[in-house]
Amino acid sequence: MSYIVAIDGPAGSGKGTLTKVVAKELGLVSIDTGMLYRCHALAVVRNNIDLDDKENIIKIMDNIEIKLKNENNIQTVFLDGEDVTDQIRLPEVNNTVSLTSSIPEVREKVTELERKIGYDWLKEGKNIIMEGRDITTVVFPEAEIKIYLDATPVERAKRRMEQQARKGINETFQEVLESIMNRDKNDMNKKVGALKRAPDAIYIDSSNLSIEQVKRKIINIIEKKQK
Ligand code: DC
Repeated sequence: MSYIVAIDGPAGSGKGTLTKVVAKELGLVSIDTGMLYRCHALAVVRNNIDLDDKENIIKIMDNIEIKLKNENNIQTVFLDGEDVTDQIRLPEVNNTVSLTSSIPEVREKVTELERKIGYDWLKEGKNIIMEGRDITTVVFPEAEIKIYLDATPVERAKRRMEQQARKGINETFQEVLESIMNRDKNDMNKKVGALKRAPDAIYIDSSNLSIEQVKRKIINIIEKKQK
Protein backbone atom coordinates (compact mmCIF):
# COMPACT_ATOMS: atom_id res chain seq x y z
CA MET A 1 0.00 0.00 0.00
CA SER A 2 1.31 3.41 -0.96
CA TYR A 3 1.49 6.04 1.74
CA ILE A 4 1.69 9.82 2.20
CA VAL A 5 4.07 11.65 4.50
CA ALA A 6 2.76 15.17 5.16
CA ILE A 7 5.11 17.80 6.61
CA ASP A 8 4.24 21.31 7.72
CA GLY A 9 6.32 23.93 9.42
CA PRO A 10 7.32 27.59 9.36
CA ALA A 11 9.74 29.22 6.91
CA GLY A 12 13.32 28.16 7.62
CA SER A 13 12.40 25.10 9.68
CA GLY A 14 14.31 22.93 7.21
CA LYS A 15 11.30 21.08 5.81
CA GLY A 16 12.35 21.67 2.19
CA THR A 17 15.80 20.17 2.69
CA LEU A 18 14.54 17.36 4.91
CA THR A 19 11.79 16.40 2.51
CA LYS A 20 14.34 16.03 -0.27
CA VAL A 21 16.89 14.01 1.72
CA VAL A 22 14.26 11.67 3.19
CA ALA A 23 12.73 11.20 -0.28
CA LYS A 24 16.14 10.34 -1.68
CA GLU A 25 16.93 7.79 1.01
CA LEU A 26 13.54 6.05 0.98
CA GLY A 27 12.75 6.46 -2.73
CA LEU A 28 9.71 8.68 -2.17
CA VAL A 29 8.41 11.37 -4.53
CA SER A 30 8.94 14.75 -2.86
CA ILE A 31 6.50 17.59 -3.47
CA ASP A 32 7.20 21.19 -2.43
CA THR A 33 3.77 22.87 -2.50
CA GLY A 34 5.18 26.39 -2.01
CA MET A 35 6.25 26.13 -5.67
CA LEU A 36 2.58 26.01 -6.76
CA TYR A 37 1.70 29.18 -4.82
CA ARG A 38 4.84 30.82 -6.19
CA CYS A 39 3.91 29.86 -9.76
CA HIS A 40 0.49 31.50 -9.43
CA ALA A 41 2.17 34.58 -7.88
CA LEU A 42 4.56 34.74 -10.86
CA ALA A 43 1.56 34.79 -13.21
CA VAL A 44 0.11 37.67 -11.17
CA VAL A 45 3.42 39.59 -11.46
CA ARG A 46 3.81 38.88 -15.19
CA ASN A 47 0.28 40.05 -15.92
CA ASN A 48 0.79 43.24 -13.91
CA ILE A 49 -2.21 42.49 -11.74
CA ASP A 50 -2.50 44.94 -8.89
CA LEU A 51 -2.31 43.35 -5.44
CA ASP A 52 -5.59 45.10 -4.56
CA ASP A 53 -7.29 43.49 -7.55
CA LYS A 54 -8.44 40.33 -5.79
CA GLU A 55 -10.92 39.50 -8.51
CA ASN A 56 -8.24 39.14 -11.18
CA ILE A 57 -5.79 37.42 -8.81
CA ILE A 58 -8.45 34.74 -8.39
CA LYS A 59 -9.59 34.74 -12.03
CA ILE A 60 -6.13 34.16 -13.44
CA MET A 61 -6.06 30.72 -11.77
CA ASP A 62 -8.59 29.60 -14.41
CA ASN A 63 -6.50 30.87 -17.30
CA ILE A 64 -3.12 29.37 -16.43
CA GLU A 65 -1.79 25.83 -16.37
CA ILE A 66 0.56 24.91 -13.53
CA LYS A 67 2.42 21.62 -13.78
CA LEU A 68 4.96 20.01 -11.49
CA LYS A 69 7.52 17.58 -12.83
CA ASN A 70 9.53 15.31 -10.58
CA GLU A 71 12.46 13.45 -12.06
CA ASN A 72 15.19 11.81 -10.00
CA ASN A 73 13.98 13.83 -7.04
CA ILE A 74 14.44 17.14 -8.81
CA GLN A 75 11.25 19.12 -8.91
CA THR A 76 10.57 21.62 -11.69
CA VAL A 77 7.50 23.76 -12.18
CA PHE A 78 5.91 24.81 -15.47
CA LEU A 79 3.67 27.79 -16.11
CA ASP A 80 1.77 27.35 -19.38
CA GLY A 81 4.45 24.93 -20.56
CA GLU A 82 7.42 27.17 -19.65
CA ASP A 83 9.92 26.00 -17.04
CA VAL A 84 9.78 28.76 -14.38
CA THR A 85 11.64 26.92 -11.60
CA ASP A 86 14.16 29.78 -11.26
CA GLN A 87 11.77 32.68 -11.86
CA ILE A 88 9.51 31.71 -8.96
CA ARG A 89 12.36 32.66 -6.56
CA LEU A 90 12.59 36.27 -7.83
CA PRO A 91 12.14 39.02 -5.20
CA GLU A 92 8.92 40.23 -6.95
CA VAL A 93 7.44 36.78 -6.41
CA ASN A 94 8.60 36.68 -2.77
CA ASN A 95 6.81 39.97 -2.23
CA THR A 96 3.61 38.83 -3.94
CA VAL A 97 3.15 35.24 -2.80
CA SER A 98 2.51 36.01 0.84
CA LEU A 99 -0.59 37.99 -0.11
CA THR A 100 -1.80 35.88 -3.04
CA SER A 101 -1.50 32.64 -1.04
CA SER A 102 -3.69 34.09 1.70
CA ILE A 103 -6.73 34.42 -0.61
CA PRO A 104 -9.16 31.56 0.18
CA GLU A 105 -10.26 31.08 -3.46
CA VAL A 106 -6.61 30.74 -4.55
CA ARG A 107 -5.98 28.22 -1.79
CA GLU A 108 -9.02 26.20 -2.83
CA LYS A 109 -7.67 25.79 -6.37
CA VAL A 110 -4.11 25.05 -5.26
CA THR A 111 -5.41 22.51 -2.72
CA GLU A 112 -7.32 20.78 -5.52
CA LEU A 113 -4.13 20.67 -7.58
CA GLU A 114 -2.08 19.34 -4.63
CA ARG A 115 -4.57 16.52 -4.05
CA LYS A 116 -4.59 15.63 -7.74
CA ILE A 117 -0.78 15.57 -7.86
CA GLY A 118 -0.68 13.41 -4.72
CA TYR A 119 -3.33 10.93 -5.87
CA ASP A 120 -1.79 10.64 -9.35
CA TRP A 121 1.52 9.52 -7.79
CA LEU A 122 -0.26 7.17 -5.37
CA LYS A 123 -2.13 5.59 -8.28
CA GLU A 124 1.23 4.94 -9.91
CA GLY A 125 2.18 3.01 -6.78
CA LYS A 126 4.60 5.66 -5.48
CA ASN A 127 4.91 6.84 -1.90
CA ILE A 128 4.95 10.60 -1.49
CA ILE A 129 6.30 13.18 0.91
CA MET A 130 4.57 16.55 0.58
CA GLU A 131 5.59 19.70 2.44
CA GLY A 132 3.90 23.05 2.97
CA ARG A 133 1.90 24.92 5.60
CA ASP A 134 -1.47 23.14 5.54
CA ILE A 135 -0.69 19.66 4.24
CA THR A 136 -1.32 17.90 7.59
CA THR A 137 -4.43 19.96 8.35
CA VAL A 138 -6.22 20.67 5.05
CA VAL A 139 -4.70 18.96 2.02
CA PHE A 140 -4.05 15.46 3.37
CA PRO A 141 -5.39 15.31 6.95
CA GLU A 142 -5.76 11.56 6.34
CA ALA A 143 -2.03 11.11 5.60
CA GLU A 144 -0.52 8.02 7.22
CA ILE A 145 2.36 10.05 8.65
CA LYS A 146 2.09 13.67 9.75
CA ILE A 147 4.98 15.77 10.99
CA TYR A 148 5.26 19.34 12.22
CA LEU A 149 8.83 20.53 11.86
CA ASP A 150 9.77 23.54 13.93
CA ALA A 151 12.77 25.59 15.07
CA THR A 152 13.06 28.79 17.08
CA PRO A 153 12.91 32.07 15.12
CA VAL A 154 16.52 32.85 16.13
CA GLU A 155 17.77 29.50 14.84
CA ARG A 156 15.80 29.88 11.61
CA ALA A 157 17.19 33.38 11.12
CA LYS A 158 20.74 32.03 11.61
CA ARG A 159 20.13 29.38 8.94
CA ARG A 160 18.65 31.93 6.54
CA MET A 161 21.68 34.23 7.12
CA GLU A 162 24.02 31.39 6.17
CA GLN A 163 21.98 30.61 3.05
CA GLN A 164 21.95 34.26 1.99
CA ALA A 165 25.68 34.64 2.66
CA ARG A 166 26.37 31.67 0.36
CA LYS A 167 24.44 33.53 -2.36
CA GLY A 168 26.50 36.66 -1.66
CA ILE A 169 23.53 38.52 -0.14
CA ASN A 170 24.39 40.41 3.02
CA GLU A 171 21.61 41.25 5.43
CA THR A 172 21.85 42.05 9.11
CA PHE A 173 20.72 39.43 11.63
CA GLN A 174 18.01 41.83 12.82
CA GLU A 175 16.63 42.23 9.28
CA VAL A 176 16.48 38.49 8.70
CA LEU A 177 14.91 37.83 12.10
CA GLU A 178 12.25 40.47 11.51
CA SER A 179 11.45 39.04 8.09
CA ILE A 180 11.13 35.51 9.58
CA MET A 181 8.82 36.79 12.31
CA ASN A 182 6.69 38.66 9.78
CA ARG A 183 6.34 35.56 7.65
CA ASP A 184 5.32 33.56 10.73
CA LYS A 185 2.66 36.14 11.50
CA ASN A 186 1.32 36.00 7.92
CA ASP A 187 1.46 32.20 7.76
CA MET A 188 -0.21 31.68 11.12
CA ASN A 189 -2.96 34.27 10.72
CA LYS A 190 -4.35 33.34 7.33
CA LYS A 191 -8.14 33.03 7.38
CA VAL A 192 -7.91 29.74 5.48
CA GLY A 193 -4.98 27.33 5.44
CA ALA A 194 -3.14 28.94 8.35
CA LEU A 195 -0.03 27.18 9.57
CA LYS A 196 -0.94 25.20 12.67
CA ARG A 197 -0.05 21.97 14.39
CA ALA A 198 -2.45 19.16 13.63
CA PRO A 199 -3.25 17.46 16.99
CA ASP A 200 -2.02 14.12 15.65
CA ALA A 201 1.11 15.44 13.91
CA ILE A 202 4.44 14.40 15.42
CA TYR A 203 6.29 17.51 16.59
CA ILE A 204 10.01 17.82 15.88
CA ASP A 205 12.02 20.77 17.12
CA SER A 206 15.10 20.93 14.90
CA SER A 207 16.70 23.93 16.66
CA ASN A 208 19.57 21.92 18.09
CA LEU A 209 19.68 19.10 15.58
CA SER A 210 21.69 18.61 12.40
CA ILE A 211 20.00 17.77 9.08
CA GLU A 212 21.31 14.20 9.47
CA GLN A 213 19.77 13.89 12.95
CA VAL A 214 16.36 15.17 11.81
CA LYS A 215 16.52 12.92 8.74
CA ARG A 216 17.08 9.88 10.99
CA LYS A 217 14.18 10.91 13.24
CA ILE A 218 11.80 11.22 10.28
CA ILE A 219 12.95 7.94 8.75
CA ASN A 220 12.44 6.19 12.13
CA ILE A 221 8.90 7.58 12.33
CA ILE A 222 8.10 6.35 8.82
CA GLU A 223 9.62 2.90 9.42
CA LYS A 224 7.82 2.50 12.75
CA LYS A 225 4.45 3.39 11.14
CA GLN A 226 5.01 0.81 8.44
CA LYS A 227 5.56 -2.04 10.90
O1 DC B 1 7.62 27.47 1.31
P1 DC B 1 7.70 28.70 0.41
O2 DC B 1 8.40 29.89 1.02
O3 DC B 1 8.24 28.41 -0.96
O4 DC B 1 6.17 29.13 0.22
C1 DC B 1 5.81 30.23 -0.58
C2 DC B 1 4.57 30.90 -0.02
O5 DC B 1 3.44 30.05 -0.14
C3 DC B 1 4.65 31.31 1.45
O6 DC B 1 4.11 32.61 1.56
C4 DC B 1 3.77 30.33 2.18
C5 DC B 1 2.80 29.87 1.12
N1 DC B 1 2.40 28.48 1.24
C6 DC B 1 1.16 28.22 1.77
O7 DC B 1 0.46 29.15 2.17
N2 DC B 1 0.72 26.92 1.87
C7 DC B 1 1.49 25.91 1.45
N3 DC B 1 1.03 24.66 1.52
C8 DC B 1 2.78 26.16 0.92
C9 DC B 1 3.21 27.48 0.85
